[in-house]
Amino acid sequence: MTILAPSILAADFWKLGEQIREVEKAGVKYLHIDVMDGIFVPAISYGMPIIASIREKTSLFFDVHLMIDKPERYVETFAELGADLLNFHLEATDNAAGVIEQIRRTGKKVGITIKPGTPVSALEPYLELVDMVLVMTVEPGFGGQVWMPECLDKVREVRRIVTEKNLKTDIEVDGGINFDNIHSAVDAGANIVVSGTSVFKNDIGVNIERLMRNAGKKE
Ligand code: DX5
Ligand code: ZN
Repeated sequence: MTILAPSILAADFWKLGEQIREVEKAGVKYLHIDVMDGIFVPAISYGMPIIASIREKTSLFFDVHLMIDKPERYVETFAELGADLLNFHLEATDNAAGVIEQIRRTGKKVGITIKPGTPVSALEPYLELVDMVLVMTVEPGFGGQVWMPECLDKVREVRRIVTEKNLKTDIEVDGGINFDNIHSAVDAGANIVVSGTSVFKNDIGVNIERLMRNAGKKE
């Protein structure tokens, strides 16, 4: 069963609470929270106060995507704010094993993320240490981009290794996922799919229903 993780980067922040309620009503369990620092990626999104504020009001699973340089500086902070899983970028640190260990110590789930240019071989040494691998399907930094279908080869590769090693690792895709391509991401082996624009533009309930229906379609 595919899990949808709506990215609130595409939400209307005037109505953030209302829109999160709509996501809940549609039966979704995850919320994808993009934190950008203006250094690891050019944009600055939102950070601690927003997460603290929504944490008080919802029990959705917070999948926090840290697009920040040297994530080791903020692991404890985001854990205390109520993240359920911390996804850090392999490219953002010199000590991935240390960050994994640090997240583990907080009791939160661990995710490791790779940009489109980073090969699966770079994360392979960590595969057995994490709960989730996030394969980006756009260059991180902005919502609303067109996806890079070639990244699905890496999803297939991760799925093959996970199956071979009999691991339970979740495989997430993020960036440019829409009604037309969601099934390709799922077919490639992703079991968690992030979507921002396609969830929050127009009717959230209708969009989620359509995404979930299309996720199950065969190529
Ligand atoms: C991109 C972010 C994504 C983005 C997804 O850097 O990590 O999570 O918000 O949004 P869409 O679905 O609009 O590409
Ligand atoms: Zn993201």
